[in-house]
Amino acid sequence: MIKMAVLGYGTVGSGVVEVIEKNKDEISIKANAELSIKYILDIRKFPGDPYEDKITSDFELILNDPEIQIICETMGGINPAYDFTKRALLSGKSVCTSNKELVADHGPELISIASEKKCNYLFEASVGGGIPIIRPLNYSLTAEKIDEITGILNGTTNFILSKMEKEGADFFEALKEAQASGYAEQNPAADIEGHDTCRKLAILSSLMTTKNVNYKEIYTEGIKRITKDDFAYANSLNQTIKLLAISKYDEDNNFYACVAPFMISKEHPLYFVNGTFNGIYVHGNMLGYSMYYGKGAGKLPTASAVVADVIDCARHLGKTVMCFWDKENITVAPFSKRSGQFFVRIIDTPENKEKAEELFPDMTLVSPMRDGEIAFITAHLTEASFAEKEKLLDGKIISRIRIAL
Ligand code: HSE
Repeated sequence: MIKMAVLGYGTVGSGVVEVIEKNKDEISIKANAELSIKYILDIRKFPGDPYEDKITSDFELILNDPEIQIICETMGGINPAYDFTKRALLSGKSVCTSNKELVADHGPELISIASEKKCNYLFEASVGGGIPIIRPLNYSLTAEKIDEITGILNGTTNFILSKMEKEGADFFEALKEAQASGYAEQNPAADIEGHDTCRKLAILSSLMTTKNVNYKEIYTEGIKRITKDDFAYANSLNQTIKLLAISKYDEDNNFYACVAPFMISKEHPLYFVNGTFNGIYVHGNMLGYSMYYGKGAGKLPTASAVVADVIDCARHLGKTVMCFWDKENITVAPFSKRSGQFFVRIIDTPENKEKAEELFPDMTLVSPMRDGEIAFITAHLTEASFAEKEKLLDGKIISRIRIAL
């Protein structure tokens, strides 16, 4: 019998308890032991809950109980999750988490403590909810040099963009619906401004490069500026708009990472990732492309990934499972040097047209979908060069969206 504790009895924490209860027979076979939840940490009271007798608000009780070998941290946020996780690992207890903020911020330190103490810090649920992606990067793809990861990593924004595309929904209507579906972060800015995606990309990129990718160095732009009209243009070009997280080595081995809305074509496998689903498209130098797709958020998919980590810990008590994430920071190439094409809409006046033609001599015009505007696609240019030209068209640009390769 392996005794465990769950920190945080919210959406994911209660999901963990449910998965362990519902699938206990399968789990005992796969863990080669019975798993038993001894404590659930929460400051709230849950009168009448079937697990009421296990609920405590005292973390020290869990920490000082030698019977507890595995802890699920499903509290979210940095504090007190960081302190609890660090102390649990220092005392030799394995920790499994869905906490993407904490993993992105303190991953290498916590992994290294786990390794010193011969226990594990596992975080499959921190990216892509129930989609296996951390384990493929740590196990199945270890013979590869991974040179590119492109992902749709946030269910809330993908739900909003899909609603705008397919039903012509307004941004704020779609956001309200996403919040009601329970996938959105408490502060929806974390979703719509791209910060949640950015942290998830930092985690994947760190495993991809085996060094630490500091999420603060990832250029991040959210979806607030995307309108229904942008989708009308995207559709006319056989494209759609997705919030993409992209990490890539270029031919000179410079490492780039960014989060931004991109137009992607119908040919791209991520085109078909809709609603709250996530998709992660990985390129390895031997394998070529592989794609990981599924429920990127939600109680049971996320809890399932946490419990799979618990089973891994149970199978490896006293041993550390390999994870390739060094403390050393990788140099993220300046985003200004990234090169690509842009779709641009400007107000239609003779002066604006002349200015646009002067600034973007190689542009390709796109049939306007709305009166009073000019739309075009630029040739390849750097972010720095585009930003300079954008400034010169100050106040005349209606929208501009990057185009994925
Ligand atoms: N708010 C996140 C999302 C939850 O929408 O993807 C899962 O990390």
